[in-house]
Amino acid sequence: MDDPNSRRAAERKLTPSAITSYLNQYVVGQDDAKKTLSVAVYSHYRKLGRQKQSDVEIVKSNVLLIGPTGTGKTLLCETLSRIARVPFVTANATSLAQSKYVNEEIEALLLRLLDKAEGDIAKAQHGIVFIDEIDKLKSTEGEQREASGERVQHALLKIMESASVKLGSTQTFDTTNVLFICAGAFVGLENITAKNQAFGFISVGAGEDQRILERLNTRVKPTDLFKFGLIPEFAGRLPIIANLHNLSKEQLARIMVEPRNSIYNQFREMLRDEGVELEVGQEVFRQIAEMAFEYKVGARSLRGIFEEMLMPVLYQVPDRPEVRKVVIKSLFEEPSLVS
Ligand SMILES: Nc1ncnc2c1ncn2[C@@H]1O[C@H](COP(=O)(O)OP(=O)(O)OP(=O)(O)O)[C@@H](O)[C@H]1O
Ligand SMILES: [Mg+2]
Repeated sequence: MDDPNSRRAAERKLTPSAITSYLNQYVVGQDDAKKTLSVAVYSHYRKLGRQKQSDVEIVKSNVLLIGPTGTGKTLLCETLSRIARVPFVTANATSLAQSKYVNEEIEALLLRLLDKAEGDIAKAQHGIVFIDEIDKLKSTEGEQREASGERVQHALLKIMESASVKLGSTQTFDTTNVLFICAGAFVGLENITAKNQAFGFISVGAGEDQRILERLNTRVKPTDLFKFGLIPEFAGRLPIIANLHNLSKEQLARIMVEPRNSIYNQFREMLRDEGVELEVGQEVFRQIAEMAFEYKVGARSLRGIFEEMLMPVLYQVPDRPEVRKVVIKSLFEEPSLVS
């Protein structure tokens, strides 16, 4: 359901703000993460067109997204991949950790980049690799190394900086300019970070100063990541860290309505196909958001609650061709079917 116009505009001039505007159409809130990602991707593009003019070599800045479950990490990167100007591939750390043949899997990842670049190796070497659920690679004390995600961290280390990987018998893939974006929920990291807060509880007056202080205080430090279970070299290769935040009730309500492919839009479309107009009141979204907020799985529970509410409607409508409109005013009232 992409709007070709906005997409074309975004493609014409992919400045950080243009990238963010595109992300805004699909992802609610998470402004910090959007900005960080947009700048990272923009800088990556800029490097592409750059000839070697000086001795200053611009080193890439891989990005790590950290945030609670269901707050938009995967969604952000999926959305980003749709306007990426370079080959973009996604891998899941959980499945990498389960594989016996990690190096083969990583080679396959690079092959997929090459595939997306239609065989153009130079283009593939400037691609973006998104590795999701990276926190699942944490090493646990006492665990056998072979069985743990640490093995995968070591394998990834190599390609995250500069490596020449042999693909088949003829081609070598240089990973120097591949941008890596990693994401994970890092459950428990907040306790580690809180314990290591460097700035204490200094109180500042003005709102802006307070915000800056809070931002510094919540900054995840590489040492926190080691404590969590990432090996130092691995954490060190992810210099840019962006935090995603818990979604507020208000944001949860917006998520059901505002994104281009929001739940509300999807069900409206579905019922429109049956010749029925669906009208759900603001109050309903507020009530669902309230409930979902308590479940503490971010936006993930919204769909289930919304669908459950619509179930009687979805059941009856196909048998009742006279129904033209369905109105729902409250989550705790029967939907009214209007002929
Ligand atoms: N900020 C958001 N804006 C719009 N929709 C969102 C947002 N966050 C989550 N969602 C919705 O919730 C679903 C789950 O989000 P997503 O997969 O991005 O979570 P995640 O942060 O990757 O969580 P996990 O750590 O469990 O993988 C998405 O498919 C999307 O529908
Ligand atoms: Mg995810």
